[in-house]
Amino acid sequence: MNDLEILNSIRNLISSVSDASSLLAEAVNLLRRERPHYHWVGVYLLQGEELVLGPYVGKPTVHTRIPLNQGICGAAASTGQTLIVDDVNADPRYLACSLETRSEIVVPIQHLGRVLGEIDIDSDQPAAFTPHDRELLEAVAALLAERI
Ligand code: SME
Repeated sequence: MNDLEILNSIRNLISSVSDASSLLAEAVNLLRRERPHYHWVGVYLLQGEELVLGPYVGKPTVHTRIPLNQGICGAAASTGQTLIVDDVNADPRYLACSLETRSEIVVPIQHLGRVLGEIDIDSDQPAAFTPHDRELLEAVAALLAERI
């Protein structure tokens, strides 16, 4: 699928899937399936001062709750800015999820300027995420923000 087809599929899910958790599960599965360099795809939801892991696809992670002042996940949520890390092992903020992971993108999900959560994606390839991935995932996050 090209980016537009992915966004249309997410729009269809938004109108057909009734609960937010199933919608997020379908969305992470779609991204994992359609973009082979996305090896781990998950959504964290902000609860108070912590990010709580929601639906994900990939290996289980120990980081099911991440305080806002920790990790690449915490940095993206606290600034409301997308973060792309080309080499996770060179970033002191990085909380390791899997030894194979080499790069990561974290895209905040925001509504009316308020961070609700984020999309977190790991790749086993170094520098796997381009401005093109960022554009796609920011558009996906904007769609999901309507429903979580
Ligand atoms: N790497 C993230 C933690 C989440 S796991 O990758 C699933 C971070 O540094 O915040």
